[in-house]
Amino acid sequence: MTVTDAPTEGNIPGIEAQVARRRTFAIISHPDAGKTTLTEKLLLFGGAIQLAGQVRARGERRRTRSDWMAIERDRGISVVTSVMTFEYDGRVFNLLDTPGHEDFSEDTYRTLTAVDSAVMVIDAAKGIEDRTRKLFEVCRLRDIPIVTFINKMDRETRDPFEVLDEIEKTLALDTAPITWPIGGGRDFLGTYDLADRTVRLMNASGDDHTDTITDAELDGVLESRHLGHIREELELARDGCHPFDLEAFRAGSLTPVFWGSALRNFGIKDLLDGLAAFAPPPRDQAADTRLVHATEDKMTAFVFKIQANMDPNHRDRIAFVRLCSGKLSRGMKAKHVRSAKTMSLHTPQFFFAQERQLADEAYAGDVVGIPNHGTLRIGDTLTEGETITFVGVPSFAPEILRRVRLEDAMKAKKLKQALQELAEEGVVQVFRPVDGSPALVGFVGALQLDVLQNRLAAEYGLTVGFEPSQYSLARWVAADTPRDLDEFLAANRSATADDVDGDPVLLSTSTYALNYVRDKWPKHRFTAIKEVQ
Ligand code: G4P
Repeated sequence: MTVTDAPTEGNIPGIEAQVARRRTFAIISHPDAGKTTLTEKLLLFGGAIQLAGQVRARGERRRTRSDWMAIERDRGISVVTSVMTFEYDGRVFNLLDTPGHEDFSEDTYRTLTAVDSAVMVIDAAKGIEDRTRKLFEVCRLRDIPIVTFINKMDRETRDPFEVLDEIEKTLALDTAPITWPIGGGRDFLGTYDLADRTVRLMNASGDDHTDTITDAELDGVLESRHLGHIREELELARDGCHPFDLEAFRAGSLTPVFWGSALRNFGIKDLLDGLAAFAPPPRDQAADTRLVHATEDKMTAFVFKIQANMDPNHRDRIAFVRLCSGKLSRGMKAKHVRSAKTMSLHTPQFFFAQERQLADEAYAGDVVGIPNHGTLRIGDTLTEGETITFVGVPSFAPEILRRVRLEDAMKAKKLKQALQELAEEGVVQVFRPVDGSPALVGFVGALQLDVLQNRLAAEYGLTVGFEPSQYSLARWVAADTPRDLDEFLAANRSATADDVDGDPVLLSTSTYALNYVRDKWPKHRFTAIKEVQ
């Protein structure tokens, strides 16, 4: 594989060279497919060996994850979406962690708006699973290029063609295998590089040193392992699969596929080489009035996540911002476009797994944390003075809807204010029915209910419980004209609500009920995603 678009510092001015080196990506997968293991191995290859141990402590991590409130208290701040930076092959990789397992939330989705590419990890025995598909759909919204890693080849697997076929059919994504597995399960020998026709054999010891042999030498190995059909398979793979096409990959319509075993440390280097060669540098970002190029001199950034401090005495928050252009220097002044006020960036921070450090400078593609007292909200834009707002940081329709039951009814006003603040922070979505009935709260992941309950108690002194709601779906409503919209809202008063920004939402009891409304109001749009404008 050759790297074609890596300008050197020598002949290109600073910002352009810095931006060209950056690759900002996330890993999407279903729980247990091997994301944590792969992250750890990528960091090992990327030279971040001393820190890989922090990811390694998987059992510990899982325990602490489910106990994240306690961690928040201990540390004062939690970094649930952390950013891991490592260098490989002259590139600076920013790997944005997308919370998985039970702490899956809207943040997980939103993190994908801050990356330029994603690695999709698939369990070779299970194929495409539910969470992978959902995360993929969010990537598709932005045409984010996807590199696929088919993991756990050392265990019993499905037929490789069948796995590729499933990706193509369920995701409508062409697959272009770069490597091909030789055997699977106990017979997994390694991978064949379809381009340069070399063979990487997995070491019995499972360390990261693999032996590379030539195509001709493979025959001897296959004969002794009774894997005669492999030759046929290789021929089929070479002739029958899509060839890799950089343009189609960058447009999000084709995925290069690598096979391996994260646990056995096999296939990781090929994957990293693939990322270095194919993954795009920071993309140009759409703002309301123009497209912002990553290599522009002036700094621009948007907030994609807010993390609040759990110390109730200090309401400070960390806003995670993704730089879209230029250079951020510590101490610089930035315009906060929504309020038109100036902020001094005294303490921008880099995060590495659970650690953080002051960021002296950062470039487009990097993610920094900016401590603030609630000024910054999800979707906000920072610039060096220009009045532009980045578009496309979305809200996602909740998968769980509940009513909040307040223990002390006298505190209803306080609850309203608390929910408003937590909704602005992205912790919960709040829907206020227009008929005046009590507000509904919406969540993407079940853990968010505990988080909300704990935070209402710790920060606002409110004891609450949750009750089921008759509604299970919420969809934002849009129409071509305000009149059309008003007509719909007037006719559906009992099932509509306002979200935190006052935008109209239809509440439905089931998919069936939703489809009924859709059929009845064909000109209206009912969407599961709302872009923050
Ligand atoms: P996740 O973050 O996507 O949830 O997955 P994670 O890396 O935690 O991996 C889930 C389980 O799968 C772990 O086993 C891990 O060791 C195993 N695993 C990951 N990659 C491979 C692989 O390439 N081959 C095989 N055979 N197993 C793999 P566990 O028993 O649940 O956890 P642990 O006890 O090993 O920590």
